[in-house]
Amino acid sequence: VREFVAVAVPLIERYRDRLPVESSTPVVSLGEGGTPLLRATRISERLGAEVWLKWEGANPTGSFKDRGMTVAVSKALGTGARAVVCASTGNTSASAAAYAARAGLKALILLPAGAVALGKLAQARAAGARLLEVHGSFDQALDAARELADRGTHVLVNSLNPDRLEGQKTAAFEIIEELGGPPDVLALPYGGGGNTTAYARGFGEAGATLRMIAGQSETRATTLASAIRIIEPAHADEVAATSAEVVSVTDEQIVRSWRTLAQEEGLFCEPASAAGLAALPDVRGLRIVIVVTGHGLKDPEAVSRVTAPPIPVEPDPDSIARAVE
Ligand code: F0G
Repeated sequence: VREFVAVAVPLIERYRDRLPVESSTPVVSLGEGGTPLLRATRISERLGAEVWLKWEGANPTGSFKDRGMTVAVSKALGTGARAVVCASTGNTSASAAAYAARAGLKALILLPAGAVALGKLAQARAAGARLLEVHGSFDQALDAARELADRGTHVLVNSLNPDRLEGQKTAAFEIIEELGGPPDVLALPYGGGGNTTAYARGFGEAGATLRMIAGQSETRATTLASAIRIIEPAHADEVAATSAEVVSVTDEQIVRSWRTLAQEEGLFCEPASAAGLAALPDVRGLRIVIVVTGHGLKDPEAVSRVTAPPIPVEPDPDSIARAVE
């Protein structure tokens, strides 16, 4: 029988022996990790495969970033840092702001102007982070964050911080535990490539071999999936060194997959999170895990762009019946 209590254990405690933490490292946790692995019945039927969804939107701030942030912020606190900095398309900022607040650290966040989804912005603001809108792309904001961190005033908590990827690799351990072995194929979105690198490392450390599919936007600089609107992936070389197959997808394919997840499986994710499903090749007869990286509530504007709004009606049964004819 599964010990359900185990999922409530902070990720750092659960995988302590496989993470770069000391017994003296303070654990900054919001209850991350231990996310559901959901059987996708309708998608399985359609693809003639056994498809599972690793639901990372169930993390405390609604994305997989929390797995890495608990490790990065715990280490930063343990080494006497006062402040963290990151550039972000949104989810890293929401996560950094929350974990910094929990640790009593200051968070400085650099956002590409006008390119961050509303929910993510709200999360970082609510957590009291210092938010700066950079006139430029995510890539330019990331360069600026790195240079600022080099001055020693702030610890960089982007995925270039190795502690981030160490935390994120734990998702691979969970999947192996949950399925009793690795899947044949794992598919996930590819933005900067940190997560692809982290999964490859996690499966590698567990001695598992599998096929990995990394779905990137064909139109990186302009995609509606703002989370992966990244021109030059910071981890491109590391991704190339893994066995992951990079597959380019259109916004139309992303939206179609997003709709499938929401309307056929009940899983409301943000658009970027559907890129793994969108990128799947023919997988008939195989066991597949699709990593669904972030919660749909983060990006309400994307929903408005791809679905119909409610129909206004008078509060009487005749108008209601007419409206749904
Ligand atoms: N999915 C979501 C929901 C993301 O927020 C990101 C990246 C990715 C996928 C891609 O992951 O970069 O490791 O390949 N978001 C970053 C951010 C860039 O700033 O929140 P990756």
